[in-house]
Amino acid sequence: MPNISNLYFRTAILFLIAGIGLGLMMSISGEHNVIGAHAHINLLGWVTSALFGGYYALNPAKAAGRLPMAQYLVYTVGVFVMSLSLYFLLLGNAAMVPIVAGSSLLTFLGVLIFAWIVWSPAPSAARSPLAA
Ligand code: HEM
Ligand code: HEM
Repeated sequence: MPNISNLYFRTAILFLIAGIGLGLMMSISGEHNVIGAHAHINLLGWVTSALFGGYYALNPAKAAGRLPMAQYLVYTVGVFVMSLSLYFLLLGNAAMVPIVAGSSLLTFLGVLIFAWIVWSPAPSAARSPLAA
């Protein structure tokens, strides 16, 4: 498995632990006030990160070069900051709005870089004269 996949799965499982922790906190306290943070930590942090990691594992040629690592950093920092700031926003801290907005855009940028990686030819295929 390429390093980037390993990194994605290691990060994803930490998001899942945090996301489930928040879900359990809501269930136990009966206060469902941070649903948005819980939903996005799980869906952006666990599910989507694991999908990215799975894609790189299935397409090791696409994991080569610096762009996948840049994509990982942009996306992961975006989701991490978005998760934390959204959590505090939902607890009533309105000052978090610009941070949630900025980190959402950073997350989206990570998705756009991933789209670029998916649509561009694999580096080895691009270099090979035999590539279709
Ligand atoms: C033991 C694990 C989990 C617990 C205890 C838990 C708990 C909760 C609770 C209490 C809510 C609020 C329900 C409401 O007030 O309507 C919720 C909502 C939600 N959870 Fe979880 N959750 C868990 C795992 C997950 C996972 C793994 C995911 C995604 C992969 C997930 C996705 C969601 C989503 C999307 C919502 C929002 C649903 C809506 O908008 O109505 N949860 N969860
Ligand atoms: C940067 C990316 C994203 C942004 C900025 C975003 C933003 C939002 C917003 C503004 C809401 C409404 C929240 C509310 O009314 O309380 C929402 C709800 C929701 N989003 Fe996203 N979203 C993003 C990515 C995703 C992705 C990738 C998924 C699924 C894979 C997802 C699943 C959901 C679900 C299930 C809800 C309903 C749960 C809730 O009430 O919080 N979102 N999202």
